[in-house]
Order: sequence, then C-alpha cells, then structure tokens
Amino acid sequence: MKVGNLVSKYNVPGPRYTSYPTVPFWKIQQWETKDWISVVQKGLGLTQEKEIGIYIHLPYCDSLCTFCGCHKHITTNHKVEDPYIEAVIKEWSLLLSAINEPVKISSIHLGGGTPTFFAPAALERLITGILALAPLVKGAELGFEAHPNSTTEAHLKSLNNLGFTRVSFGIQDYDNVVQQAIHRIQTFDQVKTVHDLALENGYTSISHDLVFGLPKQTICGFKKTVEKTLELKPHRISLYSYAHVPWIKGTGQRGFDENDLPSGSTKRALYEMAKELFLKAGYVEIGMDHFSLPEDELAIATNNKALHRNFMGYTTQSSPVLIGLGMSAISDAWFGFAQNEHSVKAYMERINKNELPITRGHELSLEDLEIRQHILNLMCHFDTEIPKKSFIHFGEIIQRLFPMIEDGLVNIKDNSISVTEKGIPFVRNCCMAFDAYLRNPVSKPTFSLTV
Ligand SMILES: C[S@@+](CC[C@H](N)C(=O)[O-])C[C@H]1O[C@@H](n2cnc3c(N)ncnc32)[C@H](O)[C@@H]1O
Ligand code: SF4
Repeated sequence: MKVGNLVSKYNVPGPRYTSYPTVPFWKIQQWETKDWISVVQKGLGLTQEKEIGIYIHLPYCDSLCTFCGCHKHITTNHKVEDPYIEAVIKEWSLLLSAINEPVKISSIHLGGGTPTFFAPAALERLITGILALAPLVKGAELGFEAHPNSTTEAHLKSLNNLGFTRVSFGIQDYDNVVQQAIHRIQTFDQVKTVHDLALENGYTSISHDLVFGLPKQTICGFKKTVEKTLELKPHRISLYSYAHVPWIKGTGQRGFDENDLPSGSTKRALYEMAKELFLKAGYVEIGMDHFSLPEDELAIATNNKALHRNFMGYTTQSSPVLIGLGMSAISDAWFGFAQNEHSVKAYMERINKNELPITRGHELSLEDLEIRQHILNLMCHFDTEIPKKSFIHFGEIIQRLFPMIEDGLVNIKDNSISVTEKGIPFVRNCCMAFDAYLRNPVSKPTFSLTV
C-alpha cells in the first residue's frame, strides 16, 4: 500500500504517549497530599541518592502564536514575574517539607510558556532559590526553552553561570507566509544571532524545534526552513507534528482557516522530506520525531536502548522521578502522576494557602506499569517483548494489530512485537493496541491525529 493510502487508513485521533495512562484517563480527580507524597517517596526509592528531576513551568508569553498547544498565559505585564517566581520556590519548599528527607536534583528544565519572558535576574532568583533547598548531583543536566525573539545575551550568560548548558529554541518555520498564519514573526538572522550567542556563551547542546503540518506550509517552503536549520547545525532537532486541538480551552488555535492546514498525506510528505535532508546531513533519527548529531547523548542513549520519553518528549532522563513545578505542571513519580492547578490564579491561591497545588492524577496499577513499559519500549526503540507472565493477552494484541501486520508496519516474532521502518510514522497506532483505557473511549474529542 502507498504511504498516502496508509496515512488515510491510520490517521486517527490518538495519544502522543508522553504518559501512560494518558491524561484523559487518569482516575484521581483530586490527590490527597499525603497519598501523592507516598507515591513520590516510593519513586525516590528506585534511585540511588533520592534524585529528582525538576521541570519548571513558566507560563507567560508576550504574544499568542495561534498554533500553540501549550499551557500559557499571554500578557505584556512583566510585574507578574516576581510573585510567580516566589510561588514556585515556595512550592518546592512545601514539597521538600512534605517529603521530609534529603533529596538531590538530577536535572532542571525550564519550559513554558516562555522562560525568556522573565528577566535574567528573575530566572537567577528562581534557580538560586531552588538550589538553596537541595543540591545538584554531579553531572546534573540544566536546560531551558527559549524564544529567539526574547532571548538576550544576559539570559544566556546568567543561566550558564548557574550551570545551564542546554537550550532549545522555538523556530517552527522560517516561511514568512506560515509565520503570518501562526502569528509568529522571527527572521533567520534573529535566530542565527541568538544561536551563535549560545555557542559563544558555553551552551554545548542547542536544539531547534520545528513543526510540520502548520497552516499554509508547503513542501517547497518547508524545505527552505530545513536548509536554514542545517546551516546552523543545532545538536538536536525536534520535528513535531502539528497537534490540532482547538477544543482544548486556552489554546487559541482559531486564528487561521482550517482549510489552510496541509492534508494528511502532504503533512507526512513534509516530515519525510525533512527527514531525508537531516539524514543526508549526518543526523540520526531519534524516536518518532527527533534528530540529533551522532555524538549527542540522545543518539548514544538510543544506541544503548536507554532513551526515555516523558512529558517533555524524548530525553536521556536518569531519574524515574520528575517533579513539575508551576501552574499546570505534571509530575511523574513512576508509580503515579499528578498535575498542578491549570490557571495561574488557582495555582497562586493554593500556594498562598501553603498547600501543594496538585489536582488530578493517577496511581499506576501493576497492569498499568507493565503496559507503560511496553509503550515506552515501542515509542523509544520500536520493539517490545511480552514476558511469559504478563497482564497482556498476546492473542488480543495481535488481533488488534492484524491490519498493521498485513500492511507490513508491524512484525511479530515469537513473543516480540516490533515496528518496521515503514511502520515508524504509525508507532502511535501500534501503542494504541496496548492501551487498555482506549477500550472505554471518552465521548468528547480528546487527541490529535496520529500521523
Ligand atoms: C513552550 S514552546 C517553546 C518556547 C517558546 N515559548 C517558543 O515558542 O519559542 C514549546 C514548543 O512546543 C511546540 N508546539 C507548541 N504548540 C504545538 C502544537 N500545537 N503542535 C506541535 N508542536 C507544538 C513548538 O515547537 C514550541 O517551540
Ligand atoms: S509557541 Fe511559545 S511563545 Fe508562542 S504562544 Fe506557545 S508557548 Fe508562547
């Protein structure tokens, strides 16, 4: 079957599997603090030195990009910076008091929203406040997401002085027609300036985010974006599939005509074109939507089968406990998930009441844990093995995968299931065959399309 026909057949709404179970199926509507803390402690027990990876959500942006699916808050009022930073530091302190034993920090990632909305001094205050309460482990990874339009040399310098060596720049597409459609104007020269500044200021891992499937995108226009990206040769490239989820409150994904979105097969052709150029330039493909230079840790982790996937996407994450701080941030303590309050207002109110701002979440059953591991194996390494003693009914999985087996997208050998090269674009569909919660579909639209 031709790729275009496969896309029509398999392009259905489905999860991106940054967690399992996926958020719409979480069972706990409101975590009790003590229950969540005991799940965190259980997760910490898996680590040698009680190590925690930290994700800090910095939600503010100066202006709305109409394609954006992130949890953000648009404002030009920079007076919001200090109270928010103080709230995050307080959240960290509340969490540590509740855990009540010494922990170490294995990584810090600042995401958003736009971390570079905040002044360098505010970010410095944030990081020093976090580190005053717990030390970093040796070799901890510190990185942040940066909008090229608001990143200054002062941001790069002050974060590098605090140990940050990783930065990812949001690029999306250089085509001016696309930039206008998504309300995000940034020139190649602006990006080159901050990219070069990052190299000069001690950043050893620079990543660029591109998105395929955006309104008004064409093969010819996106090819130029890929070529410009290659001119700067970032260490890593994320090539995200545009997730069209306008029904999710607050995305603002209505600023363009849906007829301007490339169709399923054109959208896939955009990815394949970019992939071909990246591979030709010496990058290696990581998971379903990342590329890196072969000497990068992501590539090494892929070769060693140590690649991991969490709410931040593909990572080399060493600790199984990732704590999300800030509004809407998600924590993953391996045995359970928790999400913080969704709005800045509700988040600040909980912090002001000296409460951990957690709301909904999920505690994983033994069956969830096994399925989660299979989904991680498939998303990261494209194969998984069903052990003799398993919660999985092998026959049922094969039955669900039958069309994919027939179409040459999935292979079965003994008790192993693997995704073929041709099947990589459809890996999310393969994971869906394992997902026990999809047997009870939710009624409202929930997921973006799988391809
Ligand atoms: C928090 S933003 C990055 C930092 C900064 N706010 C910026 O835009 O430059 C994270 C990334 O998510 C990706 N993203 C946002 N909305 C998306 C969507 N609807 N579909 C796919 N990727 C999306 C973009 O590539 C974006 O750079
Ligand atoms: S893409 Fe980045 S800058 Fe644009 S609205 Fe989303 S988080 Fe903000």
